[in-house]
Amino acid sequence: MRQPLVAGNWKMNGSRASVAELLDGIKAGLDEVKVAEVAVCPPFVFVPEAQARLQGTAVAWGGQDLSVHESGAYTGEIAGSMLADYGCRYVIVGHSERRSYHHETDALVAEKFAAARKAGLVPIFCVGETLEERESNVTEAVVGRQVDAVIAHCGVEMLGEGVIAYEPVWAIGTGKTATPEQAQEVHAFIRRRVEEASPAVAAKVRILYGGSMKPENAAELMSKEDIDGGLIGGASLKAADFLAICKAAN
Ligand code: PGA
Repeated sequence: MRQPLVAGNWKMNGSRASVAELLDGIKAGLDEVKVAEVAVCPPFVFVPEAQARLQGTAVAWGGQDLSVHESGAYTGEIAGSMLADYGCRYVIVGHSERRSYHHETDALVAEKFAAARKAGLVPIFCVGETLEERESNVTEAVVGRQVDAVIAHCGVEMLGEGVIAYEPVWAIGTGKTATPEQAQEVHAFIRRRVEEASPAVAAKVRILYGGSMKPENAAELMSKEDIDGGLIGGASLKAADFLAICKAAN
């Protein structure tokens, strides 16, 4: 049995005041979350606040990105060891916003996956196709290539130490969610792809869905065989909505 994971990706949102309120709101509603593991990924500067407020609770926290380097003259970068130092369990790697706005390639994302593991973090490794790619029927080719890049660089065993998140780019922040069937189809494809390298890893690795997941559609998405939770953007910024999604896994 794979325990569902619901992780909030706060992106570049929040202030000290709103972050404190959001963290306390999530903590207050945790009792009703029976099944899912819960995590939040705030902007870097709020990670210490997450640690201060979440330590000792069931909620884990993480970063949204990390450097491939361990330390040194890399202005503006954050090392995995720094995140680990602040108690992070998770770190998102290869989010489509970083792939598109920061030109992160499959090879760089694979290096970040390895850097995260080296620092003892669990990577939440994002894959997904654009609308253009879906309409040209290359979804499987694109997602397969993204998954293969990590297997080639890190090995399938290391891939299995992370979490995969399927996030169709056309569904992110657009309000357009993939139907449960559309999502399940790609999740099953990803699992088969991993299975070719290792059936044991394929059976255990969690594959989250991300892209306009909200309280209204979370239960149906997560009821699908290969959907093991969610990576939540917009709806993770309101404690009530985020908790409703966490409870949808019950
Ligand atoms: P969204 O974002 O839930 O706002 O669509 C998901 C993500 O980008 O991780």
